[in-house]
Amino acid sequence: MILSASDPASIATCADTLRAGGLIGLPTETVYGLAADAGNDVAVAQIFAAKGRPADHPLIVHVSAHDGGMSGVAHFAAQVPPFAQQLMSAFWPGPLTLILPRREGVGTAAAGGQASVGLRCPSHPAAQAVLRALHDAPAGVAPVWGLAAPSANRFGRVSPTTALHVDSELGPDLLILDGGACDLGIESTIIDCTRGAPVLLRPGSISRTQVEQACGRKLLSKEELLEQETRGLEAPKASGTLESHYAPNATVRLMDAKALQTALKMLDGAIDSVARPSIAVYARTLLKNVPRNIVLRNMPQYAAPTAHELFSVLRELDATGVKLIWVETPPDTQDWEGVRDRLQRASAPT
Ligand code: TXA
Ligand code: MG
Repeated sequence: MILSASDPASIATCADTLRAGGLIGLPTETVYGLAADAGNDVAVAQIFAAKGRPADHPLIVHVSAHDGGMSGVAHFAAQVPPFAQQLMSAFWPGPLTLILPRREGVGTAAAGGQASVGLRCPSHPAAQAVLRALHDAPAGVAPVWGLAAPSANRFGRVSPTTALHVDSELGPDLLILDGGACDLGIESTIIDCTRGAPVLLRPGSISRTQVEQACGRKLLSKEELLEQETRGLEAPKASGTLESHYAPNATVRLMDAKALQTALKMLDGAIDSVARPSIAVYARTLLKNVPRNIVLRNMPQYAAPTAHELFSVLRELDATGVKLIWVETPPDTQDWEGVRDRLQRASAPT
């Protein structure tokens, strides 16, 4: 069932459902989440079941912004290094998730049993309205300190950026709060703050430079972290860091403009112009000699509008029934890092 977020009664219904241990589809500025009370291990277990996600993959816990996220952080985190504090001040509420040491006995199932917890304070007004309603519990009712919410898709599939995407994948019995199409369109930037220095686990809309400027520290890459691991430190688990993830049904192939143009030229005349199209192309560069029986979609010239539409476009192209989606490789610049990462994973062999 889909409820409009502009109706205050919807917020109350969602808060009641969550308080009672149920799940809802929650809009955020990045992608839609599948949310449950992070303090209720039984409710959290239902998220893993609904997604088909292995129970040892940790989920992100979302907290209320009314005090800058601080009461949520104090509840779930055992300790906050100064650089993490600076990142919260700079980017919360917003698309940034921080991995922090977890307070023992709190949010155990949400954290997938890890000693750390991923915390994020989303900026979407509907998500915040629900979080605030849960935090300000009526007299005699315990507050809910955070919502565990991974992206509301089945494990390994493309993340949802509209209420209808969620409904098509996890409906019709799921209560979904419709807060419109997600502004940003790709998941939050994740920074591990448990290793003495900030480590980038997943790129998103907030760039490396922005992170480094906000906390005055060098941001380590996963590769640099790996180097540390070989010196005996343990690796964090992040399903967003598995090679193949975000995969549509069609096979996605990344090609630069020149390779794409050559491939199209070779196809010209060779493909049946009346059969159902079997190839879709998503490119920024203007291509010549595009055979008629190809589904062509233009990629925006900038990273932000591309991120905004990316998962939606992959779903749409997939729905045309094509076997192949050829995507032009995005520019090798920092602003495109989040989009590039999602496309590289969508195109990794399964
Ligand atoms: O934008 C987002 O972050 C969205 C919206 C709904 O907020 N959520 C999202 O959740 O992308 P999910 O579960 O699909 O991705 C969460 C990522 C996973 O890769 C998970 O493994 C990692 O965060 N993560 C969460 N807690 C962690 C922890 N304690 N240690 C390491 N990684 C963690
Ligand atoms: Mg996900």
